[in-house]
Amino acid sequence: MKMLFALNGWRLQQQQWTTIGRQLCRQLRRQRHNRQLMIAGGDSGHHYSRKQQLRPQSTCISSPTPPSPTNKPFIQCKPSAAAILPKRLNIKNALITEPSGDQLVAISGWIRFVRKQRPVFIHINDGSDRRNLQVVISGKDVIKNLTIKDLHHGCCVRCVGHLMPSPGPKQPTELLCQSLEIVGACDPLEYPFVDKGLTHDTTAAYCRQYPHLRQRLSIYQSLARIRSEAQNAVHMYCKQNDFIQTTAPLITSNDCEGGGHVFSIKSPYCNQDNQYYFDRQTYLTVSSQLHLEAMARSLSRVYTISQCFRAERSLSRRHLAEFLMFEAEEAFVDTVDELMDRVETVCKFIAYYLSNQCTDDFNYLIKETNYEYFDNFLQKRYVRMTYNDAIDVLTKCPKYATTLKSGHNLSAEHERYLVDYSGNVPVFVTHFPANVKPFYMKQSDGKALCFDLLSPISGEICGGSLREDDYKVLDNRLIDLNLKDNFDWYLDLRRFGNTITGGFGIGFDRLIQTLTGIQNIRDVTTFPRYWHNCQL
Ligand code: 4AD
Repeated sequence: MKMLFALNGWRLQQQQWTTIGRQLCRQLRRQRHNRQLMIAGGDSGHHYSRKQQLRPQSTCISSPTPPSPTNKPFIQCKPSAAAILPKRLNIKNALITEPSGDQLVAISGWIRFVRKQRPVFIHINDGSDRRNLQVVISGKDVIKNLTIKDLHHGCCVRCVGHLMPSPGPKQPTELLCQSLEIVGACDPLEYPFVDKGLTHDTTAAYCRQYPHLRQRLSIYQSLARIRSEAQNAVHMYCKQNDFIQTTAPLITSNDCEGGGHVFSIKSPYCNQDNQYYFDRQTYLTVSSQLHLEAMARSLSRVYTISQCFRAERSLSRRHLAEFLMFEAEEAFVDTVDELMDRVETVCKFIAYYLSNQCTDDFNYLIKETNYEYFDNFLQKRYVRMTYNDAIDVLTKCPKYATTLKSGHNLSAEHERYLVDYSGNVPVFVTHFPANVKPFYMKQSDGKALCFDLLSPISGEICGGSLREDDYKVLDNRLIDLNLKDNFDWYLDLRRFGNTITGGFGIGFDRLIQTLTGIQNIRDVTTFPRYWHNCQL
């Protein structure tokens, strides 16, 4: 070894090794010290913060106390490459940002409109707002290896540039584009739409052929935003009024409405020697009501917004095979009037909320549809009349005088007449003959303690009732209808800790129709399902 160390090279190497060794020892000592600190630190906040300083934050996953906002990590990261990239903004935020031109921003969307002049203007929209963003392209290098001819309505583009105050009167802000990239091209010869607004009745049927593409058009975007906000309104109303959101099953073993319009569920084992997946015949739900009744006897006020399915053989403009229903059930309700007050308030709350949250979308839709009755829905006191009063009104009309039979349900035409007769203000029709209504409704003198709410455009938008709370009466009714086997659990609700409950179901798609004036229910629903039609 000595010999070896005598060689210069090795001396040098030995010195190097010694330095490295010393450094390693120092590092090990430091690590040991840190470990001791950490072990001694236990759960206390002070030692935790020491630990934080000595270890990278990401390794402290199991730490029992969360870091306080003041405990800045000891190791400061250099700004990453991401920090110098343009800030990604959606159009809604771009339009409310101070257009100072300070910051480089990246905004993506679909081209609505191209003005092929110099400079070139394109209007893009990303669905976050009804308004488009004007993008100004004033140099060839902006679009690099593209030509203006490549920019078409429907293309998806990413634009990087600066937000500036717009000199034009139509928009406060525009994007001075530095570079534009086509993310998704769109061949104008193949693309089925040119978006220049819609005169709805003439083009809606055409658009229905493309449920997957029509969502890009402004009218369907507005409807989608309105639907979304309408659900927010329901949640807000329910929260403010102590209704608890619950989820009812979509697969059930009952036909709640008793109308026989249920879709049956099949599985690979179904119908082989009566072998069912659930050991019994099951259906897609027509209403969440019965499950809500069970929940209301525990939580007092409950609601759900849920898909419902009805195999009605109808091609009318207000029927779907799959639709959304907002249903609420409330314990300790005494009268139908109380229930109608609830429905009227909730409807007006939704309308008020929408007119505030989606003013732009609303004004646009109501102009497109020439709809006049939104204010009636929001502001007027809803008319209330009994079924007998309604029959009186109808029989005074020569058109119905001879054909109308008392004791029968009202037809869509009768409903329209009653709404018209009431000045296009929504109408509650109450106390129908018990025999035309489902078994679960409470009855008095042969009348069901119920109501239907009729509204312009969509007819019946809501049905509700007090529920039969008398065990014996309900039991007999179920025996008469041969339904006893499936409803033992429902009778149990009346056997144990029973109370009266009442509730209602608002057809969400019909509600959107009556709020916006859209004539056909297939256009307010994103992917409509109806008799003979289940595209996609
Ligand atoms: O009047 P319905 O049948 O009432 C019920 O289902 C109750 N169980 C609700 C409850 O009390 N919890 O339906 C309620 C509403 C109707 O007023 C209508 O707006 C809508 O659901 N509706 C339909 N909407 C679209 N297409 C269909 N086929 C519909 N059937 C009912």
